[in-house]
Amino acid sequence: MTSPLLAPLRFRNGATAPNRIWLAPLTNLQSHADGVVSDDEQRWLASRADGGFGIMESAATHVSADGQAWPGQLAAYDDRFTEGWRRLAAVSQAKGAPLLAQLFHGGARALPHDGRAPWSASPSLEGEAAFTEATPAQIEQVIADFIAAALRIEQTGGKGVELHGAHGYLLCQFLSATMNRRTDGWGGPLEHRARLLREVMQGIRAVVQPGFIVGVRLSPENFGNLTGLDLDESLQVAKWLADDGADFLHLSLWNAANMTLKRPAEHPVPLFVQALPSDLPVVSAGGIWTREEAESQLALGASAVALGRSAILNADWPSRVVEQGEEPRRTPTTAAFLRASGLGEAFVNYLAARPGFMA
Ligand SMILES: Cc1cc2nc3c(=O)[nH]c(=O)nc-3n(C[C@H](O)[C@H](O)[C@H](O)COP(=O)(O)O)c2cc1C
Repeated sequence: MTSPLLAPLRFRNGATAPNRIWLAPLTNLQSHADGVVSDDEQRWLASRADGGFGIMESAATHVSADGQAWPGQLAAYDDRFTEGWRRLAAVSQAKGAPLLAQLFHGGARALPHDGRAPWSASPSLEGEAAFTEATPAQIEQVIADFIAAALRIEQTGGKGVELHGAHGYLLCQFLSATMNRRTDGWGGPLEHRARLLREVMQGIRAVVQPGFIVGVRLSPENFGNLTGLDLDESLQVAKWLADDGADFLHLSLWNAANMTLKRPAEHPVPLFVQALPSDLPVVSAGGIWTREEAESQLALGASAVALGRSAILNADWPSRVVEQGEEPRRTPTTAAFLRASGLGEAFVNYLAARPGFMA
């Protein structure tokens, strides 16, 4: 029985992907210490492209030297990273799956850089690790950095970028009503809190080719220790981003089976789909392991699903789980299995530290 997951996907700008199964962005610490692409990173993406994923998302990639949040994180803030991105684009797209770089700045959660504390919308509160309030010049610079990084990805043959507006990193810190306590034009009302993300989106759209995909990932509501997000504000932000030229919206839900926190009778996917232009694909991610779970997101109106942990455990999820109807492998797993499945040692060790991942 054929699955709607295997139908081609069309982005708002007309770009296409061979199916609706995305490799979710997965930080894996396996780049070189200076952010240059490693053979392990290349092998990891190649293995999932070979496995039939229709869109390949890179791990979160810092756009400024002071935006790095983890050692071994991918980077795109300088031309010395260009050659590595060319290799990633080539291996990802060898099977026809577009490569999207996830563009990111850690903000308050970045590592100290050149002896200076990280910065965010507003300064740290008592009890938090120290970070400072961004100056207007820092904000203008980071917008320029996002735009330069997107151009760099385009020049290396990558098919698009996703702005990481989720999970409490810089773009999300500005959106948050609790993390952003500014009173200037970058904080206060939602129009001001959304300005950084919108100016990045508009700025990239203005310089890349029309066929280059530019999308955004949002956390629609609070999750874990993430605060200051509101469902209705997120719906408004998504609508603005559609006006600004977004080609897709990626909802990071952690558990895509759940209803919204604010309105427990409503699921987030139809809410966003109905709020947005009909040609703008909504991608759903979080806790999707089986074919049924993935197809149920499409039935709710999502155009595609993104898989994280199930893609780590099932390199060939599209053929194994969707085409052949087999059950997915699940956690706990073993280091030996992960190594054999295309993960480098740094990624294996990173996963080993996550509760419940390893046997
Ligand atoms: C090891 C690991 C690394 C992750 N790194 C990123 C990242 O770089 N960017 C991001 O937006 N989400 C990241 N996530 C979140 C995933 O993209 C995904 O949304 C989440 O794991 C829920 O989906 P899943 O249940 O299919 O794994 C990460 C998750 C894991 C497990």
